[in-house]
Amino acid sequence: FILRKVNVELRADLESQAAELLAVGGRLTASEGELQLLRRRMENLQHQVDSLIEQSAKMAFYAALTESGGVGPYNTPTVLKFSNVFTNVGDAYSPTTGFFTAPVKGVYYFRFTICGQTNQGSMGVQLFHNGKSIIYNLQTRYNEFFEYLSNAVILELNVGDELHLVLPEDTSVFDNVNNHSTFSGFLLFK
Ligand SMILES: *[C@@H]1O[C@H](CO)[C@@H](O)[C@H](O)[C@H]1NC(C)=O
Repeated sequence: FILRKVNVELRADLESQAAELLAVGGRLTASEGELQLLRRRMENLQHQVDSLIEQSAKMAFYAALTESGGVGPYNTPTVLKFSNVFTNVGDAYSPTTGFFTAPVKGVYYFRFTICGQTNQGSMGVQLFHNGKSIIYNLQTRYNEFFEYLSNAVILELNVGDELHLVLPEDTSVFDNVNNHSTFSGFLLFK
């Protein structure tokens, strides 16, 4: 009798353990499915982030100053707004402010050419990086009409760094439909 009782108890115990194992197995299968779903979502997000980074890494602009002739001289330094935009991939250059803003950290190349069209006075240009002058070029009392002044820089920039060109006081530049004065730049690499 005692043996039979033990046997019945043991069987009951085994049966309840088996039921528990089955339940645990069910839960594991469920969380495996959830994990797979989460993994797919993560991969999807990663893909979106990658393509956003890829897109923001494309930056190139090219703009001419104006179609309407001389700019300056003024008695204070004045931001040159290259308003005739021909290329602006990534929209990092603003023709309304004349400011370039770095969309990503990286190494950038910029160049400018300005034209002077007078045989009196001076032409000049100053390049600012985050408000600090990094190029200051002047051409004074030149003799020819249509003189050009050109320069280029390669800079390591952080996200949000800005660059702009300034017309120094008492100097002037010239441009018309022929694209005499231009400002351009692009991201070399990240
Ligand atoms: C000025 O540049 C624009 C854009 O590249 C071009 O379409 C236009 O023909 C240029 N003007 C002259 C006179 O070359």
